Amino acid sequence: ITVVVLFGGRSSEHSISCATAGGVLEAIDRARFDVIPVGITRSGAFVLEEDSPAKFRLDPAALPEVVDNGSRILWPSSASSRALSVQDASGAVRALGDVDVVFPILHGPYGEDGTVQGLLELVSLPYVGSGVLASALGMDKHFTKTVLAAAGIDVAPWATVTAASWAASPSSVTASVSSLGLPLFVKPARAGSSVGVSKVTSLHELPAALEVALAEDSRVLIESAVVGREVECGVLGGRSGGAPRVSVAGEIVMTDRAFYDFEAKYLGGAGVELVCPAVLTDAELAEMQALAARAFTAIDGEGLARVDFFLTPSGSFVVNEINTMPGFTPISMFPACWIASGVSYPELIADLISQALE
Ligand code: DAL
Ligand code: MG
Repeated sequence: ITVVVLFGGRSSEHSISCATAGGVLEAIDRARFDVIPVGITRSGAFVLEEDSPAKFRLDPAALPEVVDNGSRILWPSSASSRALSVQDASGAVRALGDVDVVFPILHGPYGEDGTVQGLLELVSLPYVGSGVLASALGMDKHFTKTVLAAAGIDVAPWATVTAASWAASPSSVTASVSSLGLPLFVKPARAGSSVGVSKVTSLHELPAALEVALAEDSRVLIESAVVGREVECGVLGGRSGGAPRVSVAGEIVMTDRAFYDFEAKYLGGAGVELVCPAVLTDAELAEMQALAARAFTAIDGEGLARVDFFLTPSGSFVVNEINTMPGFTPISMFPACWIASGVSYPELIADLISQALE
């Protein structure tokens, strides 16, 4: 089976995608899968990459990167062909073989948001993960929350602010969020890995937080901070319509940190521990798993997702977000949850690929 591992991309999570790809290149079962590694540079060029786990390992001192090497991937020329080729820097074209499936290990806009999924639909190549709609919904925190709320799933109260409304009247934006209380989280609508996210403990900090978030996206969410434990679980779901499978839960325990930010996630920042499996009662875990499956179905998810929750002191679950292409660097929560559920990292990769081929 020939698999295109597609990674990098135009978003601020470029390097995290590379690190996930490094993990996949290292662990994928080479006896079953032939791999064609395709990188997307930060400016959007599709290049033939090196099949090198070491090159894309997560190194906090030098985050991995797809650099333009002058090659260009040529996608199949019609929907009836699966032939992939590459034009090298000198202009010569070489066939790379017929593609069976694409594994778009891309996080953030132009990758996790339905755009790449739409490209793959156009060229009729099967791919791992959610389709166009679920990818677009999951990427956008405003629309994820709108759909989940409509499905009767609890989400944190929020307001959505556009760059235009903030520029026109900061005072009315500030007034409109006063009912959300404090602290608040300010988040770009479409970003991940906590890029552009700030915690605001006083309304004086709101303008600076909005500026940081608006640098990532022209729409920003202002959310009430939910008091509670942060718990997450992995979902796997077949395209053939079977019920989603849900892993055990993992927990992010903040020992000495304001929140689980980019530095804590990937740069070894202190004050956060990942615990998996999380200590929950059987009833709590069952409720969380049922909610994760409902949330996944509500956005029309396929393939995989990580659903992130708060468990409040009164024992209720609030969905924070759904990630349709969760990080699975070897230190990430998604594989940890599945390993704790009895699915090894290589088995997880094989499972995702075989779902895409169903
Ligand atoms: N957006 C990051 C990769 C995650 O959800 O894990
Ligand atoms: Mg996310």
